[in-house]
Amino acid sequence: MNDTTGHDALVRLRGVHKTFGEGRAEVRALRGVDLDVNPGEMLMLMGPSGCGKTTLISIISGVLSQSQGNVEAFGYQWEKLSEDAKAIARAQNIGYVFQQFHLVPQLPAIENVAVPLLIRGVPREQALRRAAASLTDVGLGDRLDDPPRQLSGGMQQRVSVARALVGQPRLLVCDEPTANLDADNGHAVMELLRKASRRTDDQGRACAVIVVTHDARVESFADRIEYMEDGRFVDAPVGAHQA
Ligand SMILES: Nc1ncnc2c1ncn2[C@@H]1O[C@H](COP(=O)(O)OP(=O)(O)O)[C@@H](O)[C@H]1O
Ligand SMILES: [Mg+2]
Repeated sequence: MNDTTGHDALVRLRGVHKTFGEGRAEVRALRGVDLDVNPGEMLMLMGPSGCGKTTLISIISGVLSQSQGNVEAFGYQWEKLSEDAKAIARAQNIGYVFQQFHLVPQLPAIENVAVPLLIRGVPREQALRRAAASLTDVGLGDRLDDPPRQLSGGMQQRVSVARALVGQPRLLVCDEPTANLDADNGHAVMELLRKASRRTDDQGRACAVIVVTHDARVESFADRIEYMEDGRFVDAPVGAHQA
């Protein structure tokens, strides 16, 4: 999967289309998307609600399959893997951060963060130790035992960043991670995500971060911004950088 410059893209999409439904209910969510996600980069995908951002990252992650076109991630073509193999490849390679945090309310922070490791069969004691280290990395080493309700929104999102990173994924996929946060907390989370894009994994391989957002406050954290409209990439709208 070398490109002409000799770099290995982590993710490569060519001519990707995604259609939901059929007949009068048909929605063409993606209409011919080409994209390379390169190691070490913080890539921001921006565009209005409904333009296809979540669909695109779901296809990148193998959660949805494309209707047409070619999708490669980490050397896999998702469509060629069984559901089980896909689930394993996703767990090993991708961490997720969502707008709504998606923490388990009954569990203390440390156990929330340990979940991806426990699912992968890491022994409990080791999983908790790594979860504590991951929480310390996001500045929450003193809140390990707090359940989500005792943490602010900004802290809860940092817990979910710790959870996304605990398994040392090569790609972090973040869907509107700052939409529920005020400016200060949004900045703190974006700092963490930017730092995450500079990591290497446990095998020394460069990682990448994709942030889907329509939060113009966080544009300055990106290495690259791609704008979407109606299921396609478009040139930057005039004035987009002044927002
Ligand atoms: N499961 C689905 N079934 C039918 N339509 C969908 C589905 N998921 C998304 N869509 C439609 O696809 C388009 C793109 O949606 P989405 O990717 O969620 O956009 P964004 O994340 O940019 O807001 C929208 O018109 C949306 O209504
Ligand atoms: Mg969305």
